[in-house]
Amino acid sequence: MNTNRYVVKSLELHLFFGRIMKEHAFFLRAGFTSADPSFSERAAFYQKSFEALLRDTVTLAGGVVGRDVIESGEVVTEFTAWTEKQTECFTGIPIAREITNHSLCLRPGDCQSNLTQMQEKVHRLNRTALKLLAGLIDFKETILKRALRCEMFTLNYPLLIEHILREAKLYRKFVEMLERDGDLSECSMKENECFWNQIMMEHAQFIRGLLDPCEAELFCTADNFAKEYGKLLENSKNAAQKTQMAESLSETIRFRDFKIAGVQGIQQCKIRSIILPLLADHVLREANHYIRILKH
Ligand SMILES: [Fe+2]
Ligand SMILES: [Fe+2]
Repeated sequence: MNTNRYVVKSLELHLFFGRIMKEHAFFLRAGFTSADPSFSERAAFYQKSFEALLRDTVTLAGGVVGRDVIESGEVVTEFTAWTEKQTECFTGIPIAREITNHSLCLRPGDCQSNLTQMQEKVHRLNRTALKLLAGLIDFKETILKRALRCEMFTLNYPLLIEHILREAKLYRKFVEMLERDGDLSECSMKENECFWNQIMMEHAQFIRGLLDPCEAELFCTADNFAKEYGKLLENSKNAAQKTQMAESLSETIRFRDFKIAGVQGIQQCKIRSIILPLLADHVLREANHYIRILKH
C-alpha cells in the first residue's frame, strides 16, 4: 500500500464530504417542526459529530493535501464564511464557524514528505467517519420513509432527502474503498459522471422549487439547466466518453457561474427565495468538486 496516497486521499475526501455531511444534518435540523423534537436532537448530534470530524481533518490536512483540491473551491469558497454567519442568524442554530476560518488558511503539501506517522490517525478518522455515516444514512432513510408515508412534516423536499442520502452513500463507498484497498481505485468515470450529472440536475430543480413564484426569469434559467443535465444523462448511454465529458464540463462551468450569481444575489438581497444562504454555497461547492473531477 502507498501510505502517502492513503493519507492524502482520505484527508481530501473528509475535507469535502465531512463538511457536506455536517451541512446536510444542519439542513435537516432546520427543516423539522417543533412537533418532532427528537428528530431535531438527532440532527444536531450528527451536525456536531461531523463538525468534530472536520475539525480533526483540517488539523491533519495542513501541508498534506493537494493544491488542486484546496484551490478547487470544493473545501470552502469566498462565500462560505459569510453564508454561515447569515444562516446562523436566520435559523438561530449555531454553526462551528471557526472551522471555516481554519480551512481558508490550509496550505498544500509537497509530494516529498513521508506521511507514515499519520497513518494510524487517519485510519481512526476513517473508522469514525464510517460509524457516523452508518447512523446518518439510517437517519436519512427514516426521515424519507416517514415523509413519504405522510407520517411527518419537514420543510425539506422528499427528493432532497433522497439526494443527500445518495451523497452520503457515495462518501461511505469511498471511505470503505480506502480502508479496503488503501487507495481510491479509478472507478468508472462514466458512473461518476452519471452520478454527478443527476446531482446537478436535481440542484437545478431544488433552486427552481425554492425561488419565489414571481422570479419568472430565474425559473426559466434553472429549468433549462435541469433539462440540459437531463439530456446529458439520456445521451450518456450512446455518446463517446470524451465528447460527453467535455459537454458535462462546459455545462457544469456554466451552472457553477449561475450558482455564484445566485449566492451573490442572495447576499445582496436581490433574489426572492426561501433558499438558505448556506444551501446556495453548499451546491456551489458540489459543482466545484465535480469540475475538479472532470478536469482530472
Ligand atoms: Fe449535498
Ligand atoms: Fe447536492
